Amino acid sequence: MNGDSERLFERFGREFPVGTAIFKEGDVGNEMYVIQSGKINISKSVRNVEKVLVTLGPGAFFGEMAIINQKPRSASAVVVEDARLLVIGPKTFETMIRGNAEIAVRMIKILAQRLQEADEQIENLMLRDHNSRVVHFLTHLATKGQQVPGGTLVEVDAGSLARKIGLKSAKVSEVLTKLLNAKLIRQHEGGILIHDVNRLREFLEFLEMKEKFGDI
Ligand code: CMP
Repeated sequence: MNGDSERLFERFGREFPVGTAIFKEGDVGNEMYVIQSGKINISKSVRNVEKVLVTLGPGAFFGEMAIINQKPRSASAVVVEDARLLVIGPKTFETMIRGNAEIAVRMIKILAQRLQEADEQIENLMLRDHNSRVVHFLTHLATKGQQVPGGTLVEVDAGSLARKIGLKSAKVSEVLTKLLNAKLIRQHEGGILIHDVNRLREFLEFLEMKEKFGDI
């Protein structure tokens, strides 16, 4: 850690071991957190099933919405890897935002990005057939994928894909097998390799047409 991070940690820092529930959805809260190290799961309970919205790592922040909106916590936060967090109270938060345009702009960008991700999720949920939902999510992940020889690598497996789009793992594996057989994707160390993202998008269009007009 550099000198700045150490100084910030001395002032605002706290250590949270793995397994700590920092807050629960619905709690009243007025602190936000910046992750210096470790990982935090943000999750929501949907019909009594805990669904992970996102896993956040170093540099990310969470818990700002309750301060901005003055509403209960919109989701729960649990430590999934020992964490060092900066705990920022409402006064410090306001001073930070008012006094530093760079921090404010960074925050707006991240909030806009979060909204865009939420829109993508809504779009995905509106697709009715499972094939389309898996392919749609893969094309979305590809925009953030890593270019490697032979295509674009997305760091995901059937299990994490299933959790993200709310389908059963077996169903997702079934769709992935079809994509493998059609040579649109390949298993790769660390994830799934998409040979040609444009072809995958074309395949999605084809699935949408099929959904619209049925098999003729
Ligand atoms: P808050 O509502 O205070 O508490 C829960 C926090 O989870 C929330 O602030 C955000 O910081 C974070 N959060 C909620 N929804 C999402 C999301 N879809 N993506 C990333 N972070 C989220």
